[in-house]
Amino acid sequence: MGKILMLNGSPRAPRSNSKQYAELFSRVCKWDAEYAAITRTNHLELCQRLEDFSDLLFVFPLYADSLPVTLFNFLKTLEAHPPQRKPTVSVLINCGFLEPEQNELAVKILELYCRQNGYPFGSVLAIGGGEAILGTPFRILVRSRLKKLAASLERGAYGRWKVTMPISKGMFLKASTKYWLSYGAKNGVTGEQMATMRIEE
Ligand SMILES: Cc1cc2nc3c(=O)[nH]c(=O)nc-3n(C[C@H](O)[C@H](O)[C@H](O)COP(=O)(O)O)c2cc1C
Repeated sequence: MGKILMLNGSPRAPRSNSKQYAELFSRVCKWDAEYAAITRTNHLELCQRLEDFSDLLFVFPLYADSLPVTLFNFLKTLEAHPPQRKPTVSVLINCGFLEPEQNELAVKILELYCRQNGYPFGSVLAIGGGEAILGTPFRILVRSRLKKLAASLERGAYGRWKVTMPISKGMFLKASTKYWLSYGAKNGVTGEQMATMRIEE
């Protein structure tokens, strides 16, 4: 039986959607799955901890069509301090936009990293509408794909899955605009302010 280390690469790990996805994954996974958030100060500790695991599951959000800097920085340390026995790397990525295909570039970046650094590459689950889907009845779709992801790691029969909310782009846009406008209002920020580049004034 293998052992999976789930590493959360979200910059807001303690209250991240990625954390929720990791929790849901560990509930459907029959293997021992341990969780850790990547922080600025724990890179070396995580590199050492990896020696005990057959599998590494990166759980992270898409940021600007790429990996969040939290994860990039960890990958740099891992490059310099690789474990002796390299785990199989799998990916559980979520993005804000409806289309899970938005995640493809980030997955390719990780695949290239694994190829260049000698890590076997495993499975991928790409989630679209990742900010919203867990709060809807479509949460059940995520659970079923997470089960497939877990089973693929357990069997060593790797695959790729994607999941999103089965609604139209128009409906998604309408619902998400309403959500963000009310979120902004709660924090004293208008739609016009949110549409500018002046995020810190
Ligand atoms: C700085 C930033 C950049 C983002 N860039 C993208 C993006 O390029 N495409 C996308 O679909 N979602 C993007 N998102 C949305 C996140 O992927 C989405 O909210 C995700 O659920 C956040 O996950 P987390 O809570 O685990 O950090 C971005 C969010 C932030 C804060």
